[in-house]
Parts: sequence; structure tokens; C-alpha cells
Amino acid sequence: MAFYLSFILLAFSSIALANLQFTINNKCPQPIMLYINGESQGSLAFNGIVSKIYSNDWSGFIYTNLNAGSGNTGVGTTRAGFYGNASYYYIVRDLNNFNTGVSIAPTSPISNGFCDVDVCNNATCTNVYNSPPTQFPAPSIVAPSVPLYQCPGSTGYTVTFCPADMFPVPKDAVGLHPIRSANKCLDVRGGIFQNGTAVQIYDCNETAAQKWIIGRGATTPVLLAGTGFCLDAGKTPASGVGLKIWQCFAGLPAQTWIYTLAGSIVLNGTNQCVDLTDGLTDNGNRLQTYQCADGNVNQAWTT
Ligand SMILES: *[C@@H]1O[C@H](CO)[C@@H](O)[C@H](O)[C@H]1NC(C)=O
Ligand SMILES: *[C@@H]1O[C@H](CO)[C@@H](O)[C@H](O)[C@H]1NC(C)=O
Ligand SMILES: *[C@@H]1O[C@H](CO)[C@@H](O)[C@H](O)[C@H]1NC(C)=O
Ligand SMILES: *[C@@H]1O[C@H](CO)[C@@H](O)[C@H](O)[C@H]1NC(C)=O
Ligand SMILES: *[C@@H]1O[C@H](CO)[C@@H](O)[C@H](O)[C@H]1NC(C)=O
Repeated sequence: MAFYLSFILLAFSSIALANLQFTINNKCPQPIMLYINGESQGSLAFNGIVSKIYSNDWSGFIYTNLNAGSGNTGVGTTRAGFYGNASYYYIVRDLNNFNTGVSIAPTSPISNGFCDVDVCNNATCTNVYNSPPTQFPAPSIVAPSVPLYQCPGSTGYTVTFCPADMFPVPKDAVGLHPIRSANKCLDVRGGIFQNGTAVQIYDCNETAAQKWIIGRGATTPVLLAGTGFCLDAGKTPASGVGLKIWQCFAGLPAQTWIYTLAGSIVLNGTNQCVDLTDGLTDNGNRLQTYQCADGNVNQAWTT
């Protein structure tokens, strides 16, 4: 009897005092700013992991302001939501701005419809709320229906940003092709979104490494869509200098280009143009800046 009672007490106290461990993982290919319930948690590196412990009745949202989301309010972000008292979890997406994919995986295994992994990788996913739910059903022996998920007794959750390892690509992003070949694209080598990665020519393959935001006829940065990286000519632009991406800085001369109506991409304030090195469209050929010359087919780019 004494054993039975102490067992009950132990079980009761462990339920009352249990904590949940949230493991937050950034698979977006650049550092992200992490927010929890409107409060900045600082930057989380690419492949970085941070752990948060909350009591098991904690409720709230975990999200990032990456890609034009608002950190303080959560507007324009895809949020991992938790309603602690009943171990509910769910994803809320902003229909106006799908800023990043998110997944939520409980530590407990799937059982009878409970504890399933909730993933939203792109703007067309359906297992999400379009605004935060205001009511939750009473807990039941039957699992709640999607988009609500529940995992009673889970000791924690793993929240992953960009579970597909890439950004959603904004609608206005384009491929940039040399006029020599519509099947070739301006490409970030290896899809490695880091300061200094070479920009090369490669078969077009619809990946985020080939989606740019550029304005025809405008003086503009050439932005790698969905990232904070820009086409960069380096500190000392000259003929033969290899092109790369670098973190965007507004107004930085090395990142300010004029995309002419004729199709050249000229570094503003210079006579240097984005140039297909040696005129070769072979995969892996690194692009360079080179003295602009009218009618040079190695310097003509289409979208
Ligand atoms: C927790 O849930 C129980 C029923 O499941 C409810 O009676 C109680 O009010 C809830 N507590 C909070 C703080 O929401
Ligand atoms: C969007 O994500 C869903 C799963 O969340 C996947 O089944 C679908 O193929 C994705 N669509 C695109 C266009 O990537
Ligand atoms: C797309 O091209 C990139 C070159 O940056 C290459 O690394 C990647 O393997 C290609 N992906 C597919 C699916 O072909
Ligand atoms: C990229 O370089 C800038 C300085 O130009 C630096 O502030 C930033 O932290 C670098 N980014 C990474 C991911 O190293
Ligand atoms: C382009 O370069 C000129 C000087 O060469 C400078 O005056 C102008 O501000 C630059 N434009 C932009 C948008 O940076």
C-alpha cells in the first residue's frame, strides 16, 4: 500500500513539474533571427541548434522574421504554435508572405494519430491555419483533426526552419540566362549560400541557387531571391575578377548594377559588365566582370 501511494505521488509530481524541451533547428542556408512570442532570441546560424525549456503548460509561437517577416508581431511569418495545457501543436502561415517552411516533430513516436510530424514546406501546404486558432477542443481519446495536432506526454518538440533545406522562392524571382543559351542559368556554385561563393554558369534546374530579383532598366542590387545575398563584384572591380555572392548591403557599390534594356548588367559607376568567361557555357564556368563592349554576346543576359 505504501509503495502504491508513493508511486502515485511520484507520478503526480512528475506530471505537475514536467518541463518540455524545445529543440530549435535552422536548416535555412543562412543565419536567421529567432523569435518566441514577439521576443528576439538572437541569431541562429545555418545548421545551428538552440534549446529552450518551458513548463508543460507553455503556449506560444516560435518563428523567424527571415524573408520579409515581422519579428515583433509574427506577421508575414510561418509560425510553429503550441497550446501547452493539452499538448496541442500546429503551424500558422501568413497567406501574404510565405517566409519559410517549418516542421514540428514531437519526441514521442506516432501512435493512433497522435504525435504526428507537422510539416509545411511551401505556400501550397494545406495542413496549416491561416490565422492563429482562438479555441481548442477538449482533450479526447481520439486525436484532433489536422491542422491541429496533439502529443500527450511528449517530453518535447523539435522545431525546424526550412526543413527542405531551402527557402521558398518569391514569385517575382527569375532565372538569368546568357543570350548564348536559354537552358543555362546564372548559378550559385553548389547552392552554398555563404559570403564569397562563386557565381557560375550551370544547367537551369529551378533551384533557389538560380532565382534572382533584378529590375530591367533599373539601377539595382541583383538579389538572390529568398536570401540576404547579392551578386557582388568585389572590392576592386576589374576585368577578369570572378563574381561571387555576398551579404547584401544597401547602396554598396560592388552590389549596385544597371540592367540595361540591351541586356548587359553593368556595375554602376564603372565600365565593367557581367561576362561569360571565355564565352563558355560549360557547367561550372565562373562568371567574371569584364570591360563592357557593345554587342559582346558574352555580356548579354535575358530573364
Ligand atoms: C487545462 O485543461 C483543463 C481540462 O483539460 C482545464 O480544466 C483547465 O482549466 C486548463 N487550464 C488552463 C490554464 O488552461
Ligand atoms: C509542397 O509541400 C508539400 C508537402 O508539404 C509537398 O507534397 C509538395 O510537393 C510541395 N510542392 C512543391 C511545389 O514543392
Ligand atoms: C542544380 O544545380 C546545382 C548547381 O548549383 C547543382 O549543385 C545541383 O545538384 C542541381 N540540382 C538538381 C536537382 O539538378
Ligand atoms: C558576411 O560578411 C559580412 C561582412 O561583409 C558579415 O557581417 C557577415 O557576418 C558575413 N556572413 C556570414 C554568414 O559569415
Ligand atoms: C551610381 O554611380 C554614381 C557615380 O558613379 C553615383 O553618383 C550614384 O549614386 C550611383 N547610383 C546608385 C544607385 O548607387
